[in-house]
Amino acid sequence: MPHGVEARTRPEDETSPLLFPPSGATGLLPADGRRASQAWPPRLRRPAFGGDYNPEQWPPETRREDIELMRSAGVNAVTVGVFAWATLEPEPGRYEFCWLDDVFERLYRADIVVVLATPSASPPAWFSKAHPSSLPVTREGVRLGLGSRESFCPSSPEYRRAAQEIAGQLARRYGAHPALALWHVGNEFGAHVGGCYCSVSQDAFRAWLRARYGDLEALNEAWGTAFWGQRYGDWDEITVPRAAPMPVNPTQQLDFRRFSNDEFLACYCGERDVLRAITPDIPVTTNFMSSDCPNLDYWTWAPEVDLVSNDHYLTAESPENHIDLALSADLTRSLARGRAWMLMEHSTSAVNWQPRNLAKAPGEMLRNSLAHVARGSDSVMFFQWRASRRGAEKFHSAMLPHAGTDSRVWRELVEMRQALTSLAEAGGSTVATDVGIVWDWPSWWALELECRPSIDVTFREAVATVHRALWQRNLTVEFVRAGDCPTHLPVLLVPSLYLCSKATADALRQYVEQGGHLLVWFFSGIVDETDAVHPGAYPGALRDLLGVRVEEFHPLHRDEQVRLSCAHRAGTWSEPVGLRGAETVWHFENGPDAEGPSLTRHLVGQGTAWYLATSPDAQGLDAVLAHVLGEAGVPWQENPDDLDVVRRRAGNTEYVFLLNHSENGVTTQQDGLDLLTGRTHEGTVEVPPGGAVVLRRTTPH
Ligand code: GLA
Repeated sequence: MPHGVEARTRPEDETSPLLFPPSGATGLLPADGRRASQAWPPRLRRPAFGGDYNPEQWPPETRREDIELMRSAGVNAVTVGVFAWATLEPEPGRYEFCWLDDVFERLYRADIVVVLATPSASPPAWFSKAHPSSLPVTREGVRLGLGSRESFCPSSPEYRRAAQEIAGQLARRYGAHPALALWHVGNEFGAHVGGCYCSVSQDAFRAWLRARYGDLEALNEAWGTAFWGQRYGDWDEITVPRAAPMPVNPTQQLDFRRFSNDEFLACYCGERDVLRAITPDIPVTTNFMSSDCPNLDYWTWAPEVDLVSNDHYLTAESPENHIDLALSADLTRSLARGRAWMLMEHSTSAVNWQPRNLAKAPGEMLRNSLAHVARGSDSVMFFQWRASRRGAEKFHSAMLPHAGTDSRVWRELVEMRQALTSLAEAGGSTVATDVGIVWDWPSWWALELECRPSIDVTFREAVATVHRALWQRNLTVEFVRAGDCPTHLPVLLVPSLYLCSKATADALRQYVEQGGHLLVWFFSGIVDETDAVHPGAYPGALRDLLGVRVEEFHPLHRDEQVRLSCAHRAGTWSEPVGLRGAETVWHFENGPDAEGPSLTRHLVGQGTAWYLATSPDAQGLDAVLAHVLGEAGVPWQENPDDLDVVRRRAGNTEYVFLLNHSENGVTTQQDGLDLLTGRTHEGTVEVPPGGAVVLRRTTPH
């Protein structure tokens, strides 16, 4: 039995006295006293390998089998208890920990660490019955019911108190257990309910607005309430932006998004602080949905977690879903500020919640997992360990399918474990990045509100299009928070920063003046943080930096295309660009702004600010990026086979991940030792269809 810990059993029903000694002196913080936020959780192996484990849904004999099978698959970490509140606390204040004690002990003896979830994503039925006001309300005023999950209002004081109470109970019970590696607070905050429109939330919204604006005059000014006679004379007149006859005030909607983000974050922080007070040495995380979550501004969350973790699911029917995976992983790593992050969930095969839940092809699970590892994850975790027999997710794939171990998924999983073991030495290495893209949730929120010039101008799709173009050239993206000045990146791309504060505009200017190459797309820099149009011609906050002046917008018809002087086509947008210091690089050949500039270039300080006044097709975008990156000295290499190439580095050791997502074999010029096969390659490497190669080599310092 490892570490001399004996099996412990407790009678059911106990409220939780300390089962293990207090955890203060376990020595888990790094010797120099840094918080865990700067370090990988000491008890979590790299790569962490496992998944969500829901033993409360299974009888004891199945749980025993689980542990044996986990061992045979090489599982070293599991996330336990995500939805177990009703099992842990079947009645108010009566706790049943016995089953979880047993799970902890069995896992510990099997050398599997526990990522222990607080169960706050799914309050028990007795709680909602006792506190009906804690159920969330939609924009249309419908109070949502039970029988599902995430049925809570983030502003409910009763909910927050109860969530913190159960978190504290778990911390006191398991805080000193040597199997506990990491706290996992709640689950995917904001996934199903982006904000609550109940009266409790409304009171909280008013308090939030008072704190933000101080006095009503400032709010009336910021929201532009003189328009449509919306002026407020009392805080109590202000409502959450419920469904109304016409679009609700955009600033009110934008502030409600910010408020909702802050309320969910307060739920997380409230639980985290309880955990930290009792178990200061155990790091805390909550699982993000990075690029797939429109509801939360994760730039505000990332500093609050000790380890960034992420969930990602492929859109099964999208032929380019591996590029979307790369986007999610790149954003996650950027939120982690380049440090190692944890892939908390992905799927072994099909999910259950898309219109057609296609199974993964043979080898796809390994390739997906390696693509996350290539982009900085030091873990490969799945939802979930054992496929459910009942409930809404019974047709979701799992590590252990309904068919059991005599199944393709299981065999691939066991093989994958071997691959991951051979990659363990790459743990902690950092991903080499080439180009920056600004990612900004408030801009996303504001851009996609009603009454914009064209519904074809979107945030996520615009960013994804640019990311895809770089992916196709094997350039790795670092996402940048608006307002940062990333002078370590030679090129910064700004596909749609509609909302741009003065501070963000200043940071972009500083970036260019110090030698950066900045490329800004149309309809950026238009409004400030209150959604008020920056004074003067467009693009407001960025006009002088870009050296252009735009009087009006000329959005195009759906599917309309215009020709550009570079021999490519463009759609969505056109506008009359006046030059105020910039020079024309390309012009429109036809359309509403024929002969006018479509791509301009402005030298500022040591750097260059480019402006793109339309949305070129794929070849056109490739040509723009080749131009801008070429001037910045970033190699724009051919990648005819769409091979996914990513580099991780540690000192002068380089790990080159070559992932072939296509159905054809690819031969590429590379040297090094393939960690997956042990074969040394000199000069060329063949990556089989759907296959992967991970080369280790030494680079000159
Ligand atoms: C999310 C949740 C999991 C599960 C999966 C299914 O990631 O966190 O509990 O529902 O989706 O894909």
